[in-house]
Amino acid sequence: MEKIVVCGGRELHGEVTISGAKNAAVAIIPAAILVDGVCVIENVPNIRDVHVIVGIMEHMGAKIEFLDKYTLRVDCSSMDKQTAPQEMVRKMRASYYLIGSLLGRFHKAEIAMPGGCNFGSRPIDQHIKGFRALGAEVACEGMVRASADELVGTSVYLDIVSVGATINIMLAAVLAKGNTTIENVAKEPHIVDLANFLNAMGADIKGAGTDVIRIRGVEKLRGGTYSIIPDQIEAGTFMIAAAATGGDVLVKNVIPKHMESVSAKLIEIGAEVTELDDAIRVKGTGVIKKANVKTLPYPGFPTDMQPQIVALLSVAEGTSIVTESVWDSRFQYVDELRRMGADIRVDGKTAVINGVRNLEGASVSATDLRGGAGMVIAGLMAKGSTEIREIQHIDRGYEKMEEKFKELGADIHRVFE
Ligand code: EPZ
Repeated sequence: MEKIVVCGGRELHGEVTISGAKNAAVAIIPAAILVDGVCVIENVPNIRDVHVIVGIMEHMGAKIEFLDKYTLRVDCSSMDKQTAPQEMVRKMRASYYLIGSLLGRFHKAEIAMPGGCNFGSRPIDQHIKGFRALGAEVACEGMVRASADELVGTSVYLDIVSVGATINIMLAAVLAKGNTTIENVAKEPHIVDLANFLNAMGADIKGAGTDVIRIRGVEKLRGGTYSIIPDQIEAGTFMIAAAATGGDVLVKNVIPKHMESVSAKLIEIGAEVTELDDAIRVKGTGVIKKANVKTLPYPGFPTDMQPQIVALLSVAEGTSIVTESVWDSRFQYVDELRRMGADIRVDGKTAVINGVRNLEGASVSATDLRGGAGMVIAGLMAKGSTEIREIQHIDRGYEKMEEKFKELGADIHRVFE
C-alpha cells in the first residue's frame, strides 16, 4: 500500500512541465492497431493507464517497446487475437477503444465491458449505435462482441455528445468503404489529436474539433511518427494548485487555447493568469472569491477539473455552486473533503459550497482519479498533515504528481506502507 502525505500551507513557486495527454494517449495507442507498419508515438505520459493498454495489446500479439521514457514504438503487424483478458480490460475505461480499432482492422472484436472510475451508469449505447450503422453485428452481455463481413461508410447522429463514442466510431470508420459522417460529436482536444494522428498515418478525416466529423475511408494506413498533445487536465490541476496556495507557477508545455475555460474561472476567482506561447503563468493573489461552475463538454469547463475547482472553492469567500452536467454521479470525493472541514452540501448533480476559513489536515482517500487530484490540492491548502490513501487512482492519470509538486516547493511525499 502506498499513500501520499502532504503538509499544507506552503506556496507553490517555480516551473512545472506538463506531460502528454492521458486521454489522447489511451486512444492513439490502440489506434495503432489500424496501421499497417510501425508507429512511433512521442510525448507518451508515463502513467498506469498507458502501461495497462500497452500490456493488453502486447497480450494480443502487438510488439511494443519504449524507445525512451516517453516514446513508444508500436508494431501491430503480428497481432493475432481479437480478444483480451477481462481482468486486464476492466482495469481501465479506455480499453473500449480496442473495439473500434479491432473492428476496423479485423472486422471482429470481443472485449469485456470496460472498467474505470465509478461515476454511476456509464453506458456505451452510442458507440454500439455507430458500429451497427457501419454494418457490424453487436451483442453486448458482459462482453461486447462485434463482427462484420465488411464495414460501409454511413451517417451517424449521436444522441449525446460522447468523447468515447466519437473516438470509437472514428476508429471503426477510417478503413470502412466509402464516406462516414458523424454529427453532434465531442470536440475535446484529444479528439482532434486522434484525428491528426490517423491523418498523419494516411487517413482522411475532416472536421475534428467541430460538431461534424467527415471520414473518407481509405484502404490502409501506413506507419509514421506522431507526438501527443500536452495534458489539458494535468495543466489545469497545477494551475488550480498554484492559485489555491497563493503561489506563482509557470505551467510549461501547454496549449493555452485548451485551457481557456479554466483560465477564465481562475481569473473570476481572483488569480492572475498570463498566457504565453506554450505556457501559462498562474499567480495567486491571496483572494479566493466565490464562483459558480457548470461542467460541460469542451469548450466548456471540463468535468475532469470539477473536484479540483471544488477543493479550491471550499475556502472561497462566500457560497459557490458547482453543477455537474456530464456525469450522473461525480461527487463521491466530497465526503473526503468534509473530513478536512469543508462545508459542502450535495443535492443530485449540484454541490453548494460554503467557503470555510481553513481546511484541516486529515486522513482521506482518493475515491477516483480526479477526486484524488482534488484531495491533493485540498492537502496543499490545509493546516497540518493530510494522508491520502488509494493513490493507485491518481497514478492512473498523473505522472509522478507528488514529485512535480515537490519541485514547486510543496511538502509532499509518497510513503510505502
Ligand atoms: C471521457 O470519458 C474521458 N475518458 C473522461 O475522463 C471524461 O470525464 C469524459 O470523457 C467527459 O469529458 C477518456 O477519455 C478515457 P463520454 P467517456 O462518453 O468517453 C454518456 C478522466 O478522469 N454516454 O463523453 O467515457 C455518459 O454516461 C476520465 O480522465 C451515454 O449515455 O465519456 C456521460 O454522461 C474520467 N452513452 C456522457 O455521455 C454512450 O454511449 C459523456 O460521456 C456514451 C456516453
